[in-house]
Amino acid sequence: MKFTLLKTDKECKARRGRLETDHGTIETPIFMPVGTAGTVKGVLQRDVKTEVKAEIILGNTYHLYLRPGLDVLEKAGGLHKFMAWDMPILTDSGGFQVFSLAHNRKLNTNGCEFRSHIDGSKHLFTPENVVDIQRKIGADIIMAFDECPPGTADFAYAAKSLDITQQWLERGLKHFDSTDPKYGYSQTFFPIVQGCVYPDLRRKAAEGAAKFYREGYAIGGLSVGEPEEVMYEMIEVVEPILPSDRPRYLMGVGTPANILEAIARGVDMFDCVMPTRNGRNGMLFTREGIINIKNLRWKDDFSPIDPDGTNYVDTTFSKAYLRHLFVANEMLGPQLASIHNLSFYLWLVNEARLKIEEGTFLSWKNMMIKKLTTRL
Ligand code: GUN
Repeated sequence: MKFTLLKTDKECKARRGRLETDHGTIETPIFMPVGTAGTVKGVLQRDVKTEVKAEIILGNTYHLYLRPGLDVLEKAGGLHKFMAWDMPILTDSGGFQVFSLAHNRKLNTNGCEFRSHIDGSKHLFTPENVVDIQRKIGADIIMAFDECPPGTADFAYAAKSLDITQQWLERGLKHFDSTDPKYGYSQTFFPIVQGCVYPDLRRKAAEGAAKFYREGYAIGGLSVGEPEEVMYEMIEVVEPILPSDRPRYLMGVGTPANILEAIARGVDMFDCVMPTRNGRNGMLFTREGIINIKNLRWKDDFSPIDPDGTNYVDTTFSKAYLRHLFVANEMLGPQLASIHNLSFYLWLVNEARLKIEEGTFLSWKNMMIKKLTTRL
C-alpha cells in the first residue's frame, strides 16, 4: 500500500492525498460506507459503486467471524469474492464491537473472552487471532485489537485501558509482520490511537504508535459520549505526533459537520453508520440541511429528493414519493434514503478534495457547516 500526499492546505491542516491498494486507488479525504456483515445495508454492491461512488468499504471482524464464519469465507476465497466487491475493504478489529455487542465479556491482558450476541457461544479474541481472522476475511486494511473506553471513563480507567491497548498493539504488529497475506494481494495493518479525553494519554498513545511508523494510523475512542469540542481537541493533540506522510483514519465519525472539522484538523479517512442508520429512519442529509422525510411538510412536494444530487435516486424520485414509502413502511424507502445519504457523504468528501486542491477549503468548510446543521 502506498500513500502520496498531494497537497497540504495553507490555512489549516487539511490534506489531499492518494492511497493505492491492490484493489484500487482511494482518493483522500475519503468516507468509507459501513458494510458490517458483508453488505452495506440495503444497497446493492453495484449501487455502492455506481450511485454512491464509494472507493472503499468497511467490514466488521466481530460480525463476519460469528456469521457466516471463517470456514465459509475461506472457502469463498475471502470477503471480496464472497460479496462480489472488487474494490478495497477495511475491517475493524472487533475491539469496538466486542465491547458494545457481546455478552459476558472477560477482559484481561491476554485478550477478551466473550459470548456471541447471536447464540451465546463462547469465544476469545486476542491481538494475534484478530490479525489471523482479518487476514482470512481478506481485508486490504487490518485494524489493531483495542479497547475503546466510554467518553466518560475516568483517568485511572483510561490509563489502564491504554496500557492494555498498547501491549496489544505490540503483539498484534509482531504477529502481523510474521504472517503472510492470505490471498495473494497485499494487506496492511493500522494501529489505533486511544487515550480517551485525556491529552497526556492521547500523546502517549500517539507516540507509542508513531514509533512503529506503519502505513496508516487510526484515531479511535472518539464520538463515544464526549462533547464535540473535546473530540476536536483530541485530534489536535495527536495530529502533530502522527507521521505526516501516513493517512489518518478517524473511526466511527460522524456527522457531515464533524467530518469537515476533522478534515480541517488533518484527518484523511472516515467511516460511520450515520448515513445508513439515520437514512433508514427517514433522516436525509443534504447540502441545504437536514430533512426528516416523514414530516407532513413533504406530503405533496414533488421536487426531486435532491435536485443537485449526482445519483439516480436523487433526481428520479420526488420527496413526496419517498415520504409515502416511509409512511407506508415500504422497504424501498430506507433503501433510497441510504443511497441518497451515502452518495451525499461521498459528494461531501469529493468536494472537500476539490476545495483543498483549489486552496479554498477553509472558507468553504465554514460556509458549509452553517448549512449542514440547519433543519429544513
Ligand atoms: N469504531 C469506532 N471507534 C472505534 C474504536 O475506538 N476502536 C475500534 N476498533 N473501532 C472503532
